[in-house]
Amino acid sequence: MIIGVPKELKDHESRVGITPAGVKALSDAGHKVLVETHAGELSAFSDDDYQHAGAEIVGSAYDTWRSAEMVVKVKEPIDKEYQYFRPGLVLFTYLHLAPLTALTDALLAAKVTGIAYETVRDRTGALPLLTPMSEVAGRMSVQVGATCLEKEHGGRGVLLGGVPGVLPGHIVILGGGVVGTNAAKIALGLGARVTLLDLNLNRLRELDDIFAGRLHTLASNSYNIARATAEADLVIGGVLIPGAAAPKLVTRQMVSRMRKGAVIVDVAIDQGGCIETAHPTTHSDPSFLVDGVVHYCVTNMPAAVPNTSTLALTNATFPYVLKIARLGAEQAIREDAGIAEGVNTYGGTLTYAAVATAQKKSSRPIGALV
Ligand SMILES: NC(=O)c1ccc[n+]([C@@H]2O[C@H](COP(=O)([O-])OP(=O)(O)OC[C@H]3O[C@@H](n4cnc5c(N)ncnc54)[C@H](O)[C@@H]3O)[C@@H](O)[C@H]2O)c1
Repeated sequence: MIIGVPKELKDHESRVGITPAGVKALSDAGHKVLVETHAGELSAFSDDDYQHAGAEIVGSAYDTWRSAEMVVKVKEPIDKEYQYFRPGLVLFTYLHLAPLTALTDALLAAKVTGIAYETVRDRTGALPLLTPMSEVAGRMSVQVGATCLEKEHGGRGVLLGGVPGVLPGHIVILGGGVVGTNAAKIALGLGARVTLLDLNLNRLRELDDIFAGRLHTLASNSYNIARATAEADLVIGGVLIPGAAAPKLVTRQMVSRMRKGAVIVDVAIDQGGCIETAHPTTHSDPSFLVDGVVHYCVTNMPAAVPNTSTLALTNATFPYVLKIARLGAEQAIREDAGIAEGVNTYGGTLTYAAVATAQKKSSRPIGALV
């Protein structure tokens, strides 16, 4: 198969769809990989690295898209890229179609096979292509929170680990899933005092075991959230209700009762945020103040660490790329129920019910078409 890897165009997106290691594995398996020039540069992979791994470097996005049977990306195409869509093209990337009507219409009109990272499932029903980015964002949340706590950044000037004779900072984590667990790991490593709240008591039991009692767990309810946030130095929001907007667990009133200079990192902002006072921000202007509390609400946190994020993402996506390249999209969809779940558009038909519902369109299951 001919596989194309264009340079990402979305604002501040610095990851790339395939690494040189992936190119080598695809080339060894007899596939041809076209990499747009400079595609990996921001993730610290040069054109030379790709060339040595067996890729052909292509001068323009047009040539990369036009010559490829499958295009592997990171973020959903932006409108400039719609012109490259054509019947039968396989597009494997994050698509997040529900709110993106224009992109959905363009994929349908051009009869593109759109396979979305975020809806591919593994045998356990989990979403394996979302997990690595939650791991990155969870670990990063403590790092950015620590920076925001510095006086220079509007914070209350607390060192999370404390020093001998001075208490460590208090981190409150909402949600004990992938983001929350990874945040807890880094927070405890720094020596902070950490309280984690989740609705799922079994998850709290597991975390209590995993962290051998070093983590304080609390059942999530508005009483406990109000008390915990009021005395927190750093609050990390990592809750998720799959398929729904994040619940606003921390109300405006709770924020007003937090310590001045405390920090909120709302990782769940990509699902609307779990803090009432949060709104999406970007890496170029990541934080703002409400009631003296610093809010960091960047929707694509992993883009700040593109080398790690690209490696983590492609570790997870690559086995699927290889399978689709080996079998062709149709056969891969027939053989692998998880890949079939990833298909959002096929032959001009919307095949993902949740996207259809969000856009008030009709859909047909992919199983009826392939
Ligand atoms: N901003 C970014 O760059 C970025 C990057 C990656 C992930 N995310 C987002 O982070 C969020 C969390 O992702 P995840 O992978 O950890 O999800 P997850 O499903 O692994 O974990 C979510 C946890 O939230 C808990 N939860 C649900 N309702 C709750 C409540 N009322 N109180 C307390 N806990 C509750 C669940 O029980 C679960 O343990 C998602 O919205 C995800 O999209 C954002």
